[in-house]
Amino acid sequence: MTLDRLSETHRSNAILEQSIYLYRDVLDLPDVPEPLYTVSGLRCVDRMRFRGYHNKALRVLQRMKLRLTNSVEIHNQMAVTYLILGQSKNAKESLLEAMKINPKNGFALAHYGFILKTEDHSYKDAIKYLREGISTGEPGTIDGRFFFHLGDALTRDGKPSEALQVYEDGVQRGLFLSVYQRSLYNEKSLAARPFWSPEQTTYSHYLKMLEDNWEIIKSEALPLLQDEDQGFFNENEGLKKKGTWKQFEMFARGERIDVNCMRTPKTCRLIENIPEAAYCRRGQVKFSLLLPGTHVWPHTGPTNCRLRAHLGLVVPEGPRIRVANDTRKWEEGKFLIFDDSFEHEVWHDGSSLRLVLIVDFWHPDLTMQQKLTLSAI
Ligand code: OGA
Ligand code: MN
Repeated sequence: MTLDRLSETHRSNAILEQSIYLYRDVLDLPDVPEPLYTVSGLRCVDRMRFRGYHNKALRVLQRMKLRLTNSVEIHNQMAVTYLILGQSKNAKESLLEAMKINPKNGFALAHYGFILKTEDHSYKDAIKYLREGISTGEPGTIDGRFFFHLGDALTRDGKPSEALQVYEDGVQRGLFLSVYQRSLYNEKSLAARPFWSPEQTTYSHYLKMLEDNWEIIKSEALPLLQDEDQGFFNENEGLKKKGTWKQFEMFARGERIDVNCMRTPKTCRLIENIPEAAYCRRGQVKFSLLLPGTHVWPHTGPTNCRLRAHLGLVVPEGPRIRVANDTRKWEEGKFLIFDDSFEHEVWHDGSSLRLVLIVDFWHPDLTMQQKLTLSAI
């Protein structure tokens, strides 16, 4: 314990490692009483995870399971480790074991519902487990991600008024900025409104520069559609209800994607002149293609730290976008700017393709310090 604390006050990894292995050594001592065994093992796992040693943590938990055969906590912690490692099938099995021991364990119920929603898209079952888990109020259950996905599952299951109640509850508990603004990676005190005018963004000069070049940008984007399998990828976050929605990324998380920029050099050069977009580590620059008949579920971006600008390149009659409770249309050669941390939904009821350039900018209220240090998303 002392070493553990020392590692925090000194922010020293060397001391942290020492404490990790001391905690682990406790598990090997003869005749360790169960409470000490449990506390030491779980703290060891927690510190290993903090250090990024997830496989090691898993091995410790597997050992602990042999002695503490009836511990819900061990199974839950195994599930969390599997989730971090992207092994959702194993995570589900651990949670099922936890629920076998205690069918009312909120942590296990909520996590199980979360996997049913995000991995299996089994909305009805997900709703059941998420609701039950959250309703326990146990530690670890009042989490924005659970409220986010419970609301989304309800929406997709055709229960919008129940979804709204979940979002209102989430706002009350301080998990969401507002009922419509449900991003989970937020900075404080940033101006927030669904649609923005160019002037409000403070980036008018950049926006105008891109608008002035819209036909050049379009002429680079159109040939890409001829061989769609190279570079244009289906949107892969499960946001589409029906139809076809593809994107071609040129910048992501503040980095230029060179293989793609080789095919769109002029567009990428233009973006390179805009540091607020090119180095926006919480955003992307990409072409977005929407075919007729497409409907994108209401959804919310991950962060309030960016503004999203859509430059219309090919815009027929038919497509429209709702952000919060305001619905607008794109125009060729013009920017439509919104804050995608607000719920938005897209329809294309026309008869030919719609193509836009999406440019994310750092939110203008962020300080230089924030722009330099915020984690990439
Ligand atoms: C977005 C989005 C849909 C589209 O940019 O966040 O959902 O029409 N776009 O490209
Ligand atoms: Mn979106």
